[in-house]
Amino acid sequence: MIAIFQSMGFTVQEMVALTAGGHTIGFAHCSEFSTRLFGKKPDPALNPKLVEALKRHCANYSTDPTIAVFLDVISPGRFDNNFLKNLQKGLGILASDIALMKDPRTVAIVNQYAMDNNLFFRDFSRAMAKLSVLGVKTGHKGEPSDDDLKMILD
Ligand code: HEM
Repeated sequence: MIAIFQSMGFTVQEMVALTAGGHTIGFAHCSEFSTRLFGKKPDPALNPKLVEALKRHCANYSTDPTIAVFLDVISPGRFDNNFLKNLQKGLGILASDIALMKDPRTVAIVNQYAMDNNLFFRDFSRAMAKLSVLGVKTGHKGEPSDDDLKMILD
């Protein structure tokens, strides 16, 4: 994940901010994480109570693929730093979210954002503005001029 984000010009800090901001809202379908619930042994990185709740919720996912769960199980309808606090408690849903707790480079940032909501908001908004212009075609290849893009990023 770090290599992919880096190849697109994002730092590790921006990757964590973007993922946390993206996943503090919305949901994931059971098929995205079911192998880590129903295997011989559930993923030990998941909080056991969450495993039980997810197993109940996803019990019929193979016959009903529309079943989904919130990515931020504590405050799914609010844009806040609970997603990061959840990761600290083993309450992440996707493997890519839980992975943020498995590397010292990302854990440090998760912990910082979990403590400081304003810092998370500041970093997310900057990184999101940067993401919003990634790959945007300018000049004769597209609509905005290079000056327009500079204005968005400033
Ligand atoms: C680290 C890399 C990322 C991975 C591997 C990833 C993966 C996923 C997966 C598997 C889902 C569930 C999709 C489903 O079941 O339908 C999801 C949902 C979502 N992701 Fe990501 N994501 C990543 C980063 C991001 C970023 C950077 C953003 C935005 C800034 C974002 C925004 C969202 C949103 C809003 C949803 C919920 C969609 C909905 O409710 O319909 N994700 N992501």
